[in-house]
This record gives sequence, structure tokens and C-alpha cells, in this order.
Amino acid sequence: MSQIQEYQIELLVGDITTLPVDAIVNAANKTLLAGLGGVDLAIHSAAGPGLQTECWTLNGCETGEAKITGGHALPAKHIIHTVGPVYTGAEEEPLLLAECYRNSLNLAKENDLHSIAFPAISAGSYGYPAEEAAQITVKAIDAWQKENPSYDIRVIVVCFDEEMLQVYRQAMGLL
Ligand code: APR
Repeated sequence: MSQIQEYQIELLVGDITTLPVDAIVNAANKTLLAGLGGVDLAIHSAAGPGLQTECWTLNGCETGEAKITGGHALPAKHIIHTVGPVYTGAEEEPLLLAECYRNSLNLAKENDLHSIAFPAISAGSYGYPAEEAAQITVKAIDAWQKENPSYDIRVIVVCFDEEMLQVYRQAMGLL
């Protein structure tokens, strides 16, 4: 008999900046200053200039780590900024990408947050192949949930388009 794995991860298609959750996660760069594109620029544009001012105080962020700010003008209460690896195929990159999810979830728990929405970290301008990134994402979130079984948190992965949704559905065994 084969066992069916059911993940406690919600998939949504759309713009992460519109979500009224406790925290949205930003796929940031190490400076934590507004990026030139992608979800980072979308978040800074929607949150307003107060976000940049708060980010200046954080002294950047290392790859795989995460830092928290207020949500400013966003419907989300907080923003968790994490920095994914730039994809080169090096051995440590899957672990660093998994750390982004793990450290973001740890930070959400430390701040008593109960809903969090992730974009597909590193899968845009940082070049991580979408299928690999999706598998790492699903495994990292699932591992964290299994390590924190009594902590109630809604975990959403936001896919920017239908194509990415299909990649995540595949990674979750839903296709
Ligand atoms: N909502 C949800 N997802 C989005 C949005 C949005 N508004 N905008 C872009 N995305 C998706 C992209 O389609 C991609 O699948 O987020 C995913 C991650 O892409 P990037 O934003 O390019 O993030 P990343 O690959 O981690 O690159 C980070 O880009 O903006 C700069 O400062 C940032 O240097 C850093 C780099």
C-alpha cells in the first residue's frame, strides 16, 4: 500500500503584496534595500518609503537568514525579509534555500504570528530552477511543521503565475 503525503501548505496565485496575513516574506538581497525588480520592488512600492527607512536600521541580512519589519502600508502586519542563494549549482545552495524558509518560520513563531505567505524565493532573478526550488520549499516547510506540531500557523505559498502554480502542485504531489 502506498502512503499519500498530505502537505499543510496552501497555494495561491497572485500578488503577495495584497494579502492581509500576519507576515509576507520578501525575497530580498543582502543589503535589504529595495531591489530593482521582482517581489522585493513590489513589496517596497506597496509598503511605502517607511519600509526603506526601517530596513536601513537592520544592517543587511546574510543568505539563508531572515529579519522582520513592520508591514507599513501593506495589508500584511509584518514583512519577513530573507535572502535566497543566487543559483550557480553549488552544493550548499539547497540548504541555504531551505534555511530561508526555516528561519522565516522560526521568526514568525518568535513573534507570535499565525499566518505567513511566501513567494518562490530565488526562483526569479536569482535563477534557481523552479522545479528544484519548489521541491526544496515544500520539504523545508513540511519539516518545520513536523518539528513544531503544536504551533498553529497558516502557511501560504504565493505563485505569481499559473505556470509556477503547476510547478508547486507537482512538488506537492497534487498532479
Ligand atoms: N507576488 C508574488 N510573487 C512575485 C511577485 C509578487 N508581487 N513579484 C514577483 N514574484 C515572483 C517571481 O515571479 C518569482 O517567481 O517571486 C519569485 C521570486 O523572484 P524575485 O522577486 O526575482 O526573487 P529572487 O529570485 O529571490 O531574486 C532576488 O531580486 O528584486 C531583487 O532585491 C532582490 O536582488 C534580489 C533579487
